[in-house]
Amino acid sequence: MTHPALPAVLERLDQDLDAGLERLFHLLRFPSISTDPAYKGDCAAAAEWLAGELSGLGFDAQVRPTPGHAMVVAHGDALAEEGADGPSLLFYGHYDVQPVDPLNLWDDEPFDPKIDTLPDGRRVIRARGAADDKGQLMTFVEACRAWVAVHGKLPARVSILFEGEEESGSPNLVPFLKANAQELSKDIALICDTGMFAPGKPGITTMLRGLVGEQITVKAANRDLHSGMYGSAAANPIRVLAKILASLHDDQGRVQIPGFYDDVDELPEEIRAQWQALPFSAQEFLGEVGLSHPAGEQDRSALEMIWSRPTCEFNGISGGYEGEGFKTVIPAQAFAKVSCRLVSRQDPEKIRASLRAFVEAQLPPDCTVEWHPHGGAGATVMDFSKPSFEAAREALSAEWETEAAFIGSGGSIPVAGHFQSLLDMPSMLIGFGLDDDRIHSPNEKYDLESFRKGARAWARILAKLAEKG
Ligand code: BES
Ligand code: ZN
Repeated sequence: MTHPALPAVLERLDQDLDAGLERLFHLLRFPSISTDPAYKGDCAAAAEWLAGELSGLGFDAQVRPTPGHAMVVAHGDALAEEGADGPSLLFYGHYDVQPVDPLNLWDDEPFDPKIDTLPDGRRVIRARGAADDKGQLMTFVEACRAWVAVHGKLPARVSILFEGEEESGSPNLVPFLKANAQELSKDIALICDTGMFAPGKPGITTMLRGLVGEQITVKAANRDLHSGMYGSAAANPIRVLAKILASLHDDQGRVQIPGFYDDVDELPEEIRAQWQALPFSAQEFLGEVGLSHPAGEQDRSALEMIWSRPTCEFNGISGGYEGEGFKTVIPAQAFAKVSCRLVSRQDPEKIRASLRAFVEAQLPPDCTVEWHPHGGAGATVMDFSKPSFEAAREALSAEWETEAAFIGSGGSIPVAGHFQSLLDMPSMLIGFGLDDDRIHSPNEKYDLESFRKGARAWARILAKLAEKG
């Protein structure tokens, strides 16, 4: 039986949409860029504001310092209605955002949110963090607000964790989870940092890829050299690095690091069948970003490439003279940032070691390499046979009036793995982002419908989990 207060809660959310948007805009105005120390005060202000909002709803909310940016922790035990004996919940989101550069590619100020209308008529919230992850975390806050406004209580025992360093690799998350394990360990974590399958088609993400990265610096001569005086006699680190990078893939798109695929499992038949039934068009997916040809392993579908296969990608490369005009120089060093998305049982440290060995084995005389590690998290796979997944799926399907799908995601959310390994807590990944949200890019947006229906969906999920989760 649906909770008797649910219809009024949903109505309240619609009536309160404009005020909810204004609250989201307030959060979006904090330039909480976690990776850049210049924005430390803005990150702190965003955390304080969130804690204030949650306190205002009746949560016991605190800003909890870490050696980096603060966590916001809130407990809603006092808000849980009498007899709320469904699973206890920990909702997770992150209030930090990616840097905005290149700033000149934004049509408007990244931290001055506004509503835009797309050519196809969709209305969107435009700002850095609109989709990743402020708009998403506010869907849950707004759902709680409506429950409290209408019913005075929440239908479930809810705690909340907002992180402020997700976009910079969560350096303080593991120690924080370890130090507060008992307090934070609930029956299920709800993570709102993923997407829907497509506009109008909600999804629960059951697979996430892991991530391991390295900045590679190849060094040769003890200073930059004149390319006429030394050219071809002196080792050129750009040439060396380019050759090594080019050797990382064969012409079928397979990664050439020995042992790279050892711990990669084939997709279970059940999941393969589910994915094949999804209306996915590689042409449309790539077409939207101006491409047409899937560039990964040529014997895999595009959906497999992004959801269930590992990658080795180059995220940045530099060296030598990059200014205007020309400078005939042989540089002393060259850099590349390389990161691998991991799947199945691939171990980040094992892959890191294999990548390093692969590069080092190809260094010619006089060249050395320096390593700067980045990230390190394995993939996560959820057990979606649990009743809580069915409950959430029913709630999402009811909101969108179409069956919600179990989907994969190419992105990485290491906290899901940490919740499992450190707190023994499974996660359910539900989010309302869309492929065209431009997360991490200029002109990031979040569909107004994602915000509106996302909040309504959480209101329904809370009721459903209480009923059958
Ligand atoms: N929200 C994203 C992850 C994501 C992206 C999920 C796309 C679903 C679809 C998250 O904030 C993110 O960007 N994570 C980083 C990893 C982190 C360790 C820097 C990523 O995936 O690159
Ligand atoms: Zn995110």
